[in-house]
Amino acid sequence: MAFFPQLRLRRLRRTDALRRMVRETEIRVTDLIYPLFVTHGRAVKREIESLPGNYHFSADKLPGEVTEIAKLGIPAIILFGLPETKDELGSGAYASKGVVQQAIRQIKKTAPDLVVITDVCMCEYTSHGHCGAVVDGCVDNDSSLELIAKTALSHAEAGADIVAPSDMMDGRVAAIRRSLDQGGFQNTPIMAYAAKYASAFYGPFREAAGSAPQFGDRRSYQMDPPNVREALREVALDVEEGADMVMVKPALAYLDVIRRVRERFDHPLAAYNVSGEYAMLKAAARNGWIDEKQAALEVLTAIKRAGADLILTYHAKDAAGWLSVR
Ligand code: PBG
Repeated sequence: MAFFPQLRLRRLRRTDALRRMVRETEIRVTDLIYPLFVTHGRAVKREIESLPGNYHFSADKLPGEVTEIAKLGIPAIILFGLPETKDELGSGAYASKGVVQQAIRQIKKTAPDLVVITDVCMCEYTSHGHCGAVVDGCVDNDSSLELIAKTALSHAEAGADIVAPSDMMDGRVAAIRRSLDQGGFQNTPIMAYAAKYASAFYGPFREAAGSAPQFGDRRSYQMDPPNVREALREVALDVEEGADMVMVKPALAYLDVIRRVRERFDHPLAAYNVSGEYAMLKAAARNGWIDEKQAALEVLTAIKRAGADLILTYHAKDAAGWLSVR
């Protein structure tokens, strides 16, 4: 009985209705987090060349966009900032009137229920483009912590719902927790980019955010792609320091990492379907080589099947539309 010809796995694949009944993984719009890039200036809505379908917005142009996002049922956005000027210590990152801080206030006025997550990092604000302070030509861990903690606090003060450190300095989650608690933000969760790799797939983002390092690379702080046990140590450390949610990034070339983290930890797990993953798919679709909708939904489903609860993706708006008509 347990063998062919009595046993036929194709029986349950015969119709769409049957396939839907036995489907093991389904993405929902509530799983999605949409990245948004805010820039200085006024009346700016400019398409990002390396991320077709995504835009740079000035704060005054955000109300329309966030209203649309909320209407689609997407629960959360993650904000990245493009400041007007940069300096050695990235002071724009923690300025109370910085681009992200102003954007948060604007968004909260328009769509108070939309969860505003902020990317906490220095690379978009430093003249050298590194994710922390540079001392003697090296990215200095311990002096970076203060800048990062200050940045997270300024986001919370502006009204951010969740802060998400992406710098990969050792000890940043504890430093942020301390600064949030001291500032009266005991209820602000930390979503830690816990296992973030030094990946070639961030290329389009760095173009979009103007955050490419001006010398060297990020290999002394972001993780070495071949390592997975080390990812588990990174996650363990961030959890120990007080991370409420953890993230694996990138997603697609790291599905095994997502799976391993899922099996070991019970924290909500996010995965970042990064810019290069999006851009590759988009480029192939534009050439007519793949079906964009099918491919994007397949990718998002795979990330969830690997174990992610939440997915940060540039496809979020499209996916929300596709999911609502399926
Ligand atoms: C900031 C940051 C980066 C991304 C998210 N936060 C770039 C980097 O580390 O160089 C990449 C996101 C993407 O590629 O979509 N440190």
